[in-house]
Amino acid sequence: MVLVGVAVGVALALVAVLIPWLPDAASEQAGIVDSVYWMVTIICVLVFAAVAGVSAYAVYKFRAPPGDTDDGSPIHGHTGLEIVWTIIPAVLVTAIAIYSGVALGQSDDLPADHRVIEVTGRQFTWTFTYPDIELEKGRPLTSGELVVPVDETVEFLITSEDVIHSFWVPEWRMKQDAVKGIVTRTIVEPTKIGTYPVICTELCGLGHAIMRSQARVLSASDFNAWVKEQRRLAAEGASVQGTALFTAQCGSCHTLADAGTTMEVGPNLDEALKGKDAAFIRESIVDPSASIAEGYQDIMPANFGELFTDPQLDGLVEYLLEATGGG
Ligand code: CUA
Repeated sequence: MVLVGVAVGVALALVAVLIPWLPDAASEQAGIVDSVYWMVTIICVLVFAAVAGVSAYAVYKFRAPPGDTDDGSPIHGHTGLEIVWTIIPAVLVTAIAIYSGVALGQSDDLPADHRVIEVTGRQFTWTFTYPDIELEKGRPLTSGELVVPVDETVEFLITSEDVIHSFWVPEWRMKQDAVKGIVTRTIVEPTKIGTYPVICTELCGLGHAIMRSQARVLSASDFNAWVKEQRRLAAEGASVQGTALFTAQCGSCHTLADAGTTMEVGPNLDEALKGKDAAFIRESIVDPSASIAEGYQDIMPANFGELFTDPQLDGLVEYLLEATGGG
């Protein structure tokens, strides 16, 4: 039976250690965070195996024989055992604390040469502002998706405009609360080009589950091209950019035949905007709470008025007007 127990234990330990449970590690900080995780996991596996093993052995070995109704012999304490089961956990917990402290210190390392990105959480959307990049005169680049160049350390300064949210890109491992009134921070150096989810991991209301965006990690030259494109789009006026803007900002929630989007988090715009005028469409974008379509919740982010430049907003309204045959 001991052999069966050991075999099961080894098999479970292999399942715990060998299957890639964690998402891709795509930041400089991910390595040490994962090593803390595995250290704790392995300690837990060993402690569990020891406790379960002793328990199973005791059940087998000291089981009362059939018909034995006597009381067990009185036992009082065992000083040696008590010292052992106090010292071992104390050593383990101290080791975890020290190693976690080292990991925390290392991941807080901020080189002088770094980029700052401001992250603002709001029910139920993320806004990313690049204070060092000017979109147009006096207006910093602001985006609903997070775009960063690879291999460059970013200091994220995080805040909230309402309740507590939490900024998290699983592949980067670092996670930080967004709290109204204070600025928290986290430091990440993305090391792999790719697209990763930005997730709110603090229950923040009805739209918590859809409070997602994406983080795109680009090469330095692609990042510069993206910045250039944002400037070009901001400067451009008409509905030329309508489809692009709609797909990037609205398509993850709304269905619109013209744009080929099919999501149903919010109202189907082919129906909701049919025959509506520009004023209604504009109001629905900048002040979505003003008119809630029947059967839908008041969860659309209210910051699109700030996110879009005026020409962008004009372009989007014009595009939606055309696409839904209103006017
Ligand atoms: Cu914001 Cu959950």
